[in-house]
Amino acid sequence: MTALTLEPLSLALAELVCEWACASGELSPWTPPPTSDDFQTALADSSIRPYVARADGQAVAFGELWTEPDGIELARIIVDPALRRRGIGTRLVLLLLEEAARMAAKQAWVRVVPQNTGALACYTKVGFAYVSAADENRFNEGQQRVYRWLRYDLAPQGKQPRSGPDSFDRFDENEQ
Ligand SMILES: CC(C)(COP(=O)(O)OP(=O)(O)OC[C@H]1O[C@@H](n2cnc3c(N)ncnc32)[C@H](O)[C@@H]1OP(=O)(O)O)[C@@H](O)C(=O)NCCC(=O)NCCS
Repeated sequence: MTALTLEPLSLALAELVCEWACASGELSPWTPPPTSDDFQTALADSSIRPYVARADGQAVAFGELWTEPDGIELARIIVDPALRRRGIGTRLVLLLLEEAARMAAKQAWVRVVPQNTGALACYTKVGFAYVSAADENRFNEGQQRVYRWLRYDLAPQGKQPRSGPDSFDRFDENEQ
């Protein structure tokens, strides 16, 4: 079992996250692909909290928390392309939900392009639920793309997300 820990992004890791996002064939959470300047901008914005997750000291994943009027959006979730399907994405999302609960958010959101079936499966596995069609239409108004929107209930009173292990169990598989 390998523990996953979350820490605020430092700019020194921005290039690495850019590499993950620009890897060929990726369904990148960034359109267009990010540059290090984008992370500098995110770090300067008080409504955005960018995090890196580490396993055994190695940076393996990235995600942001965006403070919105009605909750917190988990955004730009990405796992090192070489380390997918080992439980890191699931664990990262749970850690971000714990952070959102600590920020006293009552609900968390994610938006996903419909063709990103892997991400949708990952979020529903964690416990996110699709919003109603009416809410989805409302949320998509004014967006440049049409998204599927999912919600995770942290209420009442900043309830902690569904408890899970601090670790994931498949980091050692298929080591390169
Ligand atoms: C989506 C993403 C974060 C998932 O990370 P991950 O570490 O591979 O996820 P996990 O190993 O925890 O997978 C959890 C579950 O999600 C589902 N899943 C994840 N990737 C999948 C894929 N490519 N195809 C189908 N199901 C997938 C599976 O149900 C999986 O459980 P299983 O492995 O027991 O079958 C990762 O694929 C990624 O970084 N994608 C590119 C960026 C991106 O799309 N981000 C989301 C933007 S909204």
